[in-house]
Amino acid sequence: MPRKPLVAGNWKMNKTTAQAVTLAQDISNLYDDRLDGVDVVLCPPFTDLKQVSTVLAYDKSRMTLGAQNVCWERSGAYTGEVSPEMLHEIGCLWCIVGHSERRAYFGETDGLTAVKALALLNEGLTPIICVGESLELREQGDQAAEDFVASQVLNSCSGIPGAELSRIVIAYEPIWAIGTGRTATPEQAEASCAAIRAALARNSGPEVAEAIRILYGGSVKPENAALFAPMPDIDGALVGGASLNARDFIDLAKGFIPR
Ligand code: 13P
Repeated sequence: MPRKPLVAGNWKMNKTTAQAVTLAQDISNLYDDRLDGVDVVLCPPFTDLKQVSTVLAYDKSRMTLGAQNVCWERSGAYTGEVSPEMLHEIGCLWCIVGHSERRAYFGETDGLTAVKALALLNEGLTPIICVGESLELREQGDQAAEDFVASQVLNSCSGIPGAELSRIVIAYEPIWAIGTGRTATPEQAEASCAAIRAALARNSGPEVAEAIRILYGGSVKPENAALFAPMPDIDGALVGGASLNARDFIDLAKGFIPR
């Protein structure tokens, strides 16, 4: 079965609630029925989730909601954290985990990413597990980068039972391409995504690996989206900067409509 493309906007730490409502409304107004062929996901900050959820519900939107982080525990004395159940109740179907910014600034590891992903699956949410190599690693050669991300994926989903694994989404985001305007070439991105799928196939079997969606992220724009879309192992995009502009985000998502 062909994998349905997925385009998720990671708003990062941008937009107050009032600004988020405007952006969500603008995106919703530009939504085009042809985008029903793509899962279009908005991932605003925690504080905006409720209001963005209300905008989507009011518009009967086919777009869905995701968070950018979650706690691995169900409840309890974890000051400042938000549980999978809280995200579920507010209307999130998705949650980004293991983003390179969380790894770099908040010390998150593959192991932590894996337990967060499992906690999300247990609550019925889909984790979008991020991986990606540094510039230093890429400069050691394409093979070194591909080997690194393949093992990062396996470590970041260790402990997820086989039956659940086909539900996860992976986002390959080379750190050197995030917010820099410098994208991986479609061929480089495809080679890394193919290496990730091959590692998943060795680990969990080809059927599971074929079902998992793998996104590319890193300076994806309306102008380059259509270059990544035809790549056989790239099933969509995780978008930062361009997701903060309604027109850009919708035009970019249209680049992934199946032909
Ligand atoms: P940019 O699209 O701004 O490069 O960000 C990518 C990203 O980190 C999405 O999670």
